[in-house]
Amino acid sequence: MEIIVSKDYEEMSRKAAELAADSIRENPESLVSFPAGDTPLGMFHAFTDMVNAGTVDISKARYVSLDEWIGLSHQDKGSCGLFLDENLIGRLKKPFAETHIIDGAAADMENERQLLDRFIETHGPLEVSVLGIGMNGHLGFNEDGVDFELSAHIIPLSETTKQVMTKYFGDQFHPEFGLSQGISQIMAAKKVILIANGPHKAEIIGRAVKGEITNKVPASVLQSHPNCYVVVDQAAAAKL
Ligand code: PGA
Repeated sequence: MEIIVSKDYEEMSRKAAELAADSIRENPESLVSFPAGDTPLGMFHAFTDMVNAGTVDISKARYVSLDEWIGLSHQDKGSCGLFLDENLIGRLKKPFAETHIIDGAAADMENERQLLDRFIETHGPLEVSVLGIGMNGHLGFNEDGVDFELSAHIIPLSETTKQVMTKYFGDQFHPEFGLSQGISQIMAAKKVILIANGPHKAEIIGRAVKGEITNKVPASVLQSHPNCYVVVDQAAAAKL
């Protein structure tokens, strides 16, 4: 793991966007995956600014969703799909060659899961996977206790995630399950960039980076990834 401690959120965001852009420059036909959530907002804006300024060409690259709350469509506030529409896809002057965004409101979620697997199988492995980290160490919706061998799967949300999720959509929705890329797909990525900011992430970043590798802290698996960057601000680096 290469740990990069940035002075603040903006620097963390720029650094993560640069690392992702480098992957696309090296392989213009990259398959890339970025997360939704509060953490990546600045990175999305830094990345889309770079694309719009012409410093990275995504016209041959593909984008695939990391995860989605089951029951939420792209129109629903707090959905990963809406976040991606507003902060990535909708900000780009020139689009990716192709995007695969999970539909959390699909009538047949097993089919949706298979579509995610198939897209990654067809166009993957991921060139770059950018990830946030949950308060329980989850990556996407790979919650504590997850099987590291899984590919895309539907998984019950942990109690921690259910508590945290009210920040995304208040009391409006109460999802019980998520659809997520699996750890095996994340670990197959040629580059992984884990981003985190703020003092509330210090404890879990410390456990993920320096603790035992265990599915009780799913992000700890990244210690065994051959090309993983952990890009954090100073507050999130407090326990490193
Ligand atoms: P956050 O979520 O970026 O909103 O903190 C991270 C996550 O749960 O993966």
